[in-house]
Amino acid sequence: MLNGKIALITGAASGIGREIAHVYARAGAAVAIADIHLAAAQATADEIVASGGKAMAVAMDVTDEDAVDAGTTAVVDTLGGLDILVSNAGIQIVKPIVEFSFAEWKKMLAIHVDGAFLTTRAALRFMYQDNRGGTVIYMGSVHSHEGSPLKSAYVAAKHALLGLARVLAKEGAAHNVRSHVICPGFVRTPLVDKQIPEQARELGISEEEVVKKMMLGETVDGIFTTIDDVAQTALFLAAFPSAALTGQSFVVSHGWHMH
Ligand code: NAI
Repeated sequence: MLNGKIALITGAASGIGREIAHVYARAGAAVAIADIHLAAAQATADEIVASGGKAMAVAMDVTDEDAVDAGTTAVVDTLGGLDILVSNAGIQIVKPIVEFSFAEWKKMLAIHVDGAFLTTRAALRFMYQDNRGGTVIYMGSVHSHEGSPLKSAYVAAKHALLGLARVLAKEGAAHNVRSHVICPGFVRTPLVDKQIPEQARELGISEEEVVKKMMLGETVDGIFTTIDDVAQTALFLAAFPSAALTGQSFVVSHGWHMH
């Protein structure tokens, strides 16, 4: 489905990004594993190469303008172009608004929003060349559409991605560039595992209650979304053949938030 395509995925050393890299590689794409943790990114790239795929690792802190520009250029130089960007790197900080430090707020916005902007701008410089085009996928969240206590910065940042994607859909159309936001429900990755005890402490409930009530209570079937559910959605969107799908968000969540 993605034969001959070149994809750059941020935060691809772990969790959702790593699974998207594997799924894209199996679909025939050459993939660049961009992450702040180079050794882990290299390990993911090595796994893909060992299973017959094409991959490279690139050190990239998505909040660092020079690192994003240099890393993107290195990917284009090494793999020969850029057709798909998945802006996925992210972290979570949970605490009430009154306890959020300004530094923590800015860190969240920097990774999720500045990172999306910087990687998009770097990718577009190549995708706009000769209007060769491409697809930009942002990793939003059900929290792109819904609020939850303790997640002020995360919810604000994930809502911001909808705006960026909608503007890109309009600006990019003339250059054959499309944009999408994938909005997963809760997925068991290190990002989620870390917040279970943190939320239990802040809310004064047990870890089991955090999982049952906060994470799965709003689903239709009490089941976690999986990394493969998200990766298959990312594959569908990257392979979709026309701009009939652009500027939209896709909620992948077992019914946790419907719109
Ligand atoms: P994860 O913690 O497994 O992976 C995140 C990756 O991002 C890590 O490899 C980390 O090193 C990297 N990263 C962190 N800061 C970075 C930076 N400044 N520059 C480059 N890389 C950086 O987390 P997960 O769950 O796979 O999350 C991926 C994305 O999916 C995030 O944007 C997250 O908000 C989003 N998401 C996750 C959900 C979940 O339930 N796990 C649900 C909805 C959205």
